[in-house]
Amino acid sequence: MKSNGASPSIALPLLALSAYFSLAASDPRITEAGLYCDNSTVVDGSIIPNYIAVLREIPKSVTDQHWGNYSLTSPPPAVYGLAQCHGDLIDNDCLLCYARSRNRLPACPNFGRLYLDGCFLRVDGYDFYNETVDPMHDVLNCSSNSAVPADQKERMAEFSDRVDQVLRNVLASAVLNKGFAVAGKDGAGGVAGVYALAQCWSTLDAGSCRVCLENATSKARSCTPREEARAMNAGCFLRYSTTKFYSVPVGRGSSTIRVTIAIALSATAATLLVLIGAYIGYKEYSKKKQVQSSLMRLPMTISKSGLYFKYETLEKATNFFNESRKLGQGGAGSVYKGILPNGKVVAIKRLVFNTRQWVDDFFNEVNLINRIQHKNLIRLLGCSIEGPESLLVYEYLPNRSLDLVLSVNNATRILTWEERLHIITGTAEGLAYLHGGCGMKIIHRDIKASNILLDENLMAKIADFGLARCIAPDQSHLSTGIAGTLFGSITSRII
Ligand SMILES: *[C@@H]1O[C@H](CO)[C@@H](O)[C@H](O)[C@H]1NC(C)=O
Ligand SMILES: *[C@@H]1O[C@H](CO)[C@@H](O)[C@H](O)[C@H]1NC(C)=O
Ligand SMILES: *[C@@H]1O[C@H](CO)[C@@H](O)[C@H](O)[C@H]1NC(C)=O
Ligand SMILES: *[C@@H]1O[C@H](CO)[C@@H](O)[C@H](O)[C@H]1NC(C)=O
Ligand SMILES: *[C@@H]1O[C@H](CO)[C@@H](O)[C@H](O)[C@H]1NC(C)=O
Repeated sequence: MKSNGASPSIALPLLALSAYFSLAASDPRITEAGLYCDNSTVVDGSIIPNYIAVLREIPKSVTDQHWGNYSLTSPPPAVYGLAQCHGDLIDNDCLLCYARSRNRLPACPNFGRLYLDGCFLRVDGYDFYNETVDPMHDVLNCSSNSAVPADQKERMAEFSDRVDQVLRNVLASAVLNKGFAVAGKDGAGGVAGVYALAQCWSTLDAGSCRVCLENATSKARSCTPREEARAMNAGCFLRYSTTKFYSVPVGRGSSTIRVTIAIALSATAATLLVLIGAYIGYKEYSKKKQVQSSLMRLPMTISKSGLYFKYETLEKATNFFNESRKLGQGGAGSVYKGILPNGKVVAIKRLVFNTRQWVDDFFNEVNLINRIQHKNLIRLLGCSIEGPESLLVYEYLPNRSLDLVLSVNNATRILTWEERLHIITGTAEGLAYLHGGCGMKIIHRDIKASNILLDENLMAKIADFGLARCIAPDQSHLSTGIAGTLFGSITSRII
């Protein structure tokens, strides 16, 4: 065989392998693309139990199949939930994206729909699982930048054609491919390339998926010559962009790559070439793998500060969140005593939505607590976001909280006046630090005896920043009111 004939047979398996191994690149795409809150429903606490149960149930199937729906109709009011990752996300990114949306959606006082760039989460009061378009609430977001200067009519037309083509392709293959597809066309002749992703929610059948995507494509098309558009419908998500934003899909939903490999491999008779290809592919893979594992320690500051814990480690540390390990129930979740593999004892907070004052934003909380450190503030040791729920790991304090010390009847330990003063001063120092000493102004908003923890020397440590809010330096007060219960009880109790 001449060299001309041999090169495609090398190139083919190499191409296929490098395509396969580039899958390892990781990005959970948690950028917020759209949030719609349904404020029309009456705000009251009655949806909370079902809401929590639905959000708790969904991740079980998100872990297995990258999407899930769950609903509870009794006792009323009914709550319906749906979560879906886009088909190109790898398992871990899907969980990260879900974790992000689960912590973000409760920004809505009641029901809502949240579109992140990598996943979707909706909780609503009716069965919306077969809904395709919703003229009132579907959103189209065109970017502000144009891909082509306005005076170049010809290139503009060419760009629109290219968008049109790619959108048509992505629609057709998504309908055939269980509701998900990506498509791309490289640029040429000075006109930018176009990449697109289409995702229908898996509760739709192929016909409804087509209806939804046809509507979304014609809307997205109207954005040209803008360089990017996102059409966010009740039943699907469609995005095109001049930059490649998706990963090459893997596993479920797309078998095309494996098929490519199979064909490529059987097409080439030379086992040697395959071995060379595999070797190069493996090199590539290990490089990518390193990148991936560093990306998995998301997000930003968590990876830098080594705050990251594996979910399984924490699960084992608490004996699978055994009741006997439970230390207490805080505003933002229950706290368990955990013993890490190295023997270190820690307190692990399991975040759930069980109060009206939702944990606004897990990521912000971690960033916030990690940046402020003071002897009178409880120290955050780390967190886990990959598992079915978000966990925070704090230092463990053996004397537990002040309310327990104060209110135990026949207490073996009655605090002396010196000890009380020591606790008050420590609490005040911690608060002073929060209120400005740390370079930010942080209002705790829920100071009470159960949030003052005591170490072995009765040093006060303020806990539970779940409700804390940063305020801008020019704001002198908070307008959102007092969040806590029993506010002020510390002063009355301690003295
Ligand atoms: C609904 O309520 C949320 C939170 O209170 C608010 O941010 C949002 O602007 C409201 N949306 C509408 C459409 O009124
Ligand atoms: C969707 O399902 C509801 C009931 O679950 C039904 O009333 C409605 O007709 C369905 N809509 C479509 C478009 O299939
Ligand atoms: C559209 O998306 C951009 C980010 O891609 C965002 O900054 C902007 O606020 C969005 N516009 C609307 C109306 O949501
Ligand atoms: C999930 O959605 C399907 C429709 O695709 C529906 O038949 C099923 O009842 C839903 N499951 C739950 C638990 O609501
Ligand atoms: C998409 O569907 C909505 C609701 O049926 C309709 O009002 C709108 O005109 C459709 N848009 C396009 C571009 O087809």
